[in-house]
Amino acid sequence: MQIRYFQGRDLADICQVASTSLLEHYDPNLFVQLVPYWPEGLIVIEDMGRVVGFVFGIRSGERQARILMLAINDRYRGGGLGTMLTEEFFRECAKRGICQVTLEVRVSNDKAMRFYQRLGFFNVRIVQRYYSNGEDGLFMMRYL
Ligand SMILES: CC(C)(COP(=O)(O)OP(=O)(O)OC[C@H]1O[C@@H](n2cnc3c(N)ncnc32)[C@H](O)[C@@H]1OP(=O)(O)O)[C@@H](O)C(=O)NCCC(=O)NCCS
Repeated sequence: MQIRYFQGRDLADICQVASTSLLEHYDPNLFVQLVPYWPEGLIVIEDMGRVVGFVFGIRSGERQARILMLAINDRYRGGGLGTMLTEEFFRECAKRGICQVTLEVRVSNDKAMRFYQRLGFFNVRIVQRYYSNGEDGLFMMRYL
């Protein structure tokens, strides 16, 4: 198991993990367009040559970052990989003087909400109809 920065050849694996883990559909071009602005914001976990999870964040201000996606292949969940990835993302943020990390999570996604709370995120507000199917999002934040 290895944690490392994204490389171009990971794109297909990442899209596979995203499409089987996240309800929202993301166009692969999103990665291609956004990653160059902050390549270290896309961190993957690899096992036996395949990406089994990733976190993707962007800089959303001088001292702020935003997690757009976090997903672990379902066979690998519950073993601490999501926590490891998120903590690695925090370290990348800290290196760049980022002191605030935000994200949105579906209000129905109790498991992810608990996961983020355990990692120090707190609930800020509900964003109505944030997702494309009309579901509300919970906006969460953590100070580093
Ligand atoms: C949310 C998600 C990324 C968490 O990834 P994960 O690898 O399962 O996370 P972890 O294993 O670090 O933590 C999950 C749970 O396992 C427990 N755990 C952590 N390490 C463990 C270990 N070594 N052994 C057993 N359990 C462990 C944690 O206590 C945690 O419990 P919690 O549900 O109370 O938070 C993953 O469930 C996922 O991909 N979900 C679908 C996509 C999604 O919802 N993404 C977030 C949307 S914004």
